Amino acid sequence: MATIGILTGGGDCPGLNPVIRAVVRKAYNEGYKVIGIKNGWKGLIELDTMELNLDTISGILPKGGTILGTSRTNPYKKEGAVDKVKANFKKLGLDALIATGGEDTLGVANKLTQDGIPNIVGVPKTIDNDLGSTDFTFGFDTAVNIATECIDRLHTTAESHHRVMVAEVMGRHAGWIAVYSGIAGGADVILIPELPIDVQEVCDIIRKRHARGKIFSIIVVAEGAQFKQKDLITQEKKLDEFGHVRLGGIGEQLAKEVEKITGYETRVTVFGHIQRGGTPTAFDRVLGTRFGVKAVELVKNKKFGKMVALAGNKIIDVPIQEAVKELKTVDMGLYEIAKEFFG
Ligand code: F6P
Repeated sequence: MATIGILTGGGDCPGLNPVIRAVVRKAYNEGYKVIGIKNGWKGLIELDTMELNLDTISGILPKGGTILGTSRTNPYKKEGAVDKVKANFKKLGLDALIATGGEDTLGVANKLTQDGIPNIVGVPKTIDNDLGSTDFTFGFDTAVNIATECIDRLHTTAESHHRVMVAEVMGRHAGWIAVYSGIAGGADVILIPELPIDVQEVCDIIRKRHARGKIFSIIVVAEGAQFKQKDLITQEKKLDEFGHVRLGGIGEQLAKEVEKITGYETRVTVFGHIQRGGTPTAFDRVLGTRFGVKAVELVKNKKFGKMVALAGNKIIDVPIQEAVKELKTVDMGLYEIAKEFFG
């Protein structure tokens, strides 16, 4: 009987449990055993595992987060950790590993594939939707729906108080959540990491809007957006094991600038981890399920070093190496559509 290990690494996201459930169910149907590795790569370094069977996955489909736990552990940043990963892979008797994660987790999977653990299959996840080689990652749709609902709620209070409301959404390197939720929520300005912020331009748009009688406005800004000629605004400069700072604070700075320049009362709301929590949408449940089943099929067919991906409405497989080569930033054609509604 073949044994498959599965781990979830990096920031959690709605849809991870549907993937775990699908992997276990498909593996069961194929006669494989599945071992859950806890807390991402950390669990493989520390040999921290849990049993996964039809009982342990029962009822997890609508649950947010991941029953396996997660971490931002990078074995390549810890002395001797890669050797431990290799040794524990053998100790667990794994014939294959399904690594579920974003650019960081799959970046490690890619390195390990080249460093002596060739039998890895990747499953793409991130609310940021910035992973290459797949049209969408699960988690993104849920985050967009939550952010859209929050923007709707800001609208009514903005209108009552004649205020400018700045909504800070997640999106470290790419503004996908900002653009999608901004379009869906009818934002008056959308600011993304891909395009440096010109505060004067933002204020001109808001002033023009006020001049035509609309005395409230909504600005959506991605946490990774940056002012022209200024340093990235962070909560914490210290780098994590994948070289990331902790973002947050751009909304507050922007609100201050907008209020100073326009004289309009401006408030900020940071949506934060609310966007990553809670039950996945039907879209994310279905996508996670399709990815999980396909991942086991790749294991069955010994198509290792591959990541499952969505192309149009088809589930395909692509080399993990290709997927982690370059981040998928916002489609500027889509941003142009969003701009038609600015002001
Ligand atoms: O990568 C997904 C993400 O949600 C980013 O949008 C955000 O910058 C980051 O994770 C936050 O990570 P953490 O929860 O570890 O602070």
